[in-house]
Amino acid sequence: MHTVSTVAQARALFEVLPRPLGFVPTMGALHDGHLALVTRARDESSAIAVSIFVNPAQFGPSEDFDRYPRDLEGDCAKLHRAGVDVIFAPDVAAIYPEEFSTTVDPGALGTSFEGALRPTHFRGVATVVTKLLNIVRPDVLYLGQKDAQQTAVIRRVVRDLDLPVRVTIVPTEREPDGLARSSRNVYLSSQEREAAPSLHRALQAVRLAMAGGRTKGDALAAARGLLHPLAHLDYLDVVDSDTFEPIDILRPPAFIIGAARFGATRLLDNIWIDA
Ligand code: PAJ
Repeated sequence: MHTVSTVAQARALFEVLPRPLGFVPTMGALHDGHLALVTRARDESSAIAVSIFVNPAQFGPSEDFDRYPRDLEGDCAKLHRAGVDVIFAPDVAAIYPEEFSTTVDPGALGTSFEGALRPTHFRGVATVVTKLLNIVRPDVLYLGQKDAQQTAVIRRVVRDLDLPVRVTIVPTEREPDGLARSSRNVYLSSQEREAAPSLHRALQAVRLAMAGGRTKGDALAAARGLLHPLAHLDYLDVVDSDTFEPIDILRPPAFIIGAARFGATRLLDNIWIDA
């Protein structure tokens, strides 16, 4: 396994790796959710690249960039065991050198839900992922369904800019009690950790109620009632999976999406309604 930190080193390696090359971009602090993407990439590719880069451009000024969990050594050990060929772990100056000024703006898709609460977030994600794709030049990009709106934004960027890569979305890995695995779960107090799976239960309740014929309004109201009192809901809705526009019936392909704060920690989750 090679670990590289400069764009030039990365380019040189990626040119000689066997194809197809699968690529998993991450911000590190790796858990079983990330590793599910690596496993899928390993099953389908001749070589695997993983990037580890906590991308300042996707964090707002009051967000957790500085205290985002970092564990490069632990991450490298996990990726080594998982059979990864190359880790690209650049520092901020390698990705955003002085005078860097170009951004990729995904438009309206990046302004609702997560984008409404975090106005510069998806521009930061779209910019860094475009840049990473240009450095790594993989055949397949692996993304987690856990970040549903991010998958829609990146698929849109790939389509709109004709980026020569296939996008594969991997289902969400969960804890045994249903909580979606997330690097931010480590911030939860024990009480918040107990409360957190109620977000997933609320999403499941929306699906059951709407599949049973209840209106979206009724289903969302009933689901809100299932949230733990420690949960502060940011949103709960049913959206078209490509446009992220709210829809009133459970028409696939769709996502039931939710985000809630437990203390200072924001957690996201969703259920994919397949065609
Ligand atoms: P990060 O939060 O580290 O996640 C990296 C990838 O792992 C994303 O595609 C995410 O959806 C996926 N992932 C996270 N938790 C998962 C889970 N429980 N099950 C399955 N997949 C999961 O998402 C980012 O980083 C960044 O925005 C990035 C795309 C790297 C751009 O900076």
